Amino acid sequence: MNIGFIGAGKVGCSLGKYLTFNQHFLSGYYSRNPESSASAANYTGSRQFLDLSELISSSDIIFVTVPDGAIASVWDEIVRFDISGKIICHCSGALSSSVFSGIRDHSAYGFSVHPFLAISGKFDSYQDISKAFFTIEGSAEKIQEVCKLISDMGNSYQIIQADVKTKYHAAAVFASNLMIGVMDGAAQLLKECGFTDEQAEKALIPIISGNIQNAIEKGTTKALTGPVERCDTGTVKGHISALEDSDLKNLYVEASKQLIKVALRKHPDRDYEELKNFLEICD
Ligand SMILES: NC(=O)c1ccc[n+]([C@@H]2O[C@H](COP(=O)([O-])OP(=O)(O)OC[C@H]3O[C@@H](n4cnc5c(N)ncnc54)[C@H](OP(=O)(O)O)[C@@H]3O)[C@@H](O)[C@H]2O)c1
Repeated sequence: MNIGFIGAGKVGCSLGKYLTFNQHFLSGYYSRNPESSASAANYTGSRQFLDLSELISSSDIIFVTVPDGAIASVWDEIVRFDISGKIICHCSGALSSSVFSGIRDHSAYGFSVHPFLAISGKFDSYQDISKAFFTIEGSAEKIQEVCKLISDMGNSYQIIQADVKTKYHAAAVFASNLMIGVMDGAAQLLKECGFTDEQAEKALIPIISGNIQNAIEKGTTKALTGPVERCDTGTVKGHISALEDSDLKNLYVEASKQLIKVALRKHPDRDYEELKNFLEICD
């Protein structure tokens, strides 16, 4: 199978390199900017294409690794050529394969193949993909081929349905971006207490990394500590009162409601009702 890429950015370069590292053959890269396709081709030992139709005719599997907002317009370009029998994938977490509208009319097969991972660089991130969990969604006829491509490289995967892709992507945002928002909230409060940026960072790094490490090693339920877990309603009330005028109050309340679910898994016999009711009226 010859694998071609449209879009020589972070995911295109990293996934392409990872595929070649796993003995797959790349036809090469087509990108908006010829400098990008040239450097991606050089990086992966494949070919630069300046003509989209040539990339398509030289590839059995085509990864469309352009930003989410450009996938539909690139698809409009692709369908002008003969794509019968080809497997066409994008890597968006939020979009489903339905963005390749009418693909079956062209006797081709569409997929979304999402690495559940942040890929930050073009040329220094490919080894991170070995740790990625993939989510695969698309045409029933060829889905096992796509799953095999991923699992043969040692990656775990889950097949999901198109109609849950947006919710699935929200989960990824919870696990990555929203964690940053929560950490930033902690830094903001420390600065309001008189910490400098540097002191806040120094204070937060051990507590954040220790907490993440505990959650990885023990799971979120066993890792949970703090006033919600202890059912310490008085302390939670104190925090909410201290945050009364803060834009972080709602985040604290909503996240604490979620923590009660975790705390109940940890202590099914503990009565969290008073704390739960208090948080309900804080909205
Ligand atoms: N980065 C991540 O952490 C990550 C993780 C999982 C999934 N994804 C998904 O992977 C996909 C690509 O993301 P990315 O982070 O790799 O983006 P990126 O680094 O911005 O790269 C996108 C590339 O697409 C090219 N491009 C844009 N419009 C194009 C067009 N009309 N025709 C051809 N090429 C075009 C750009 O090329 P030029 O350089 O030639 O201008 C750019 O290099 C997205 O669907 C994203 O949701 C990203």
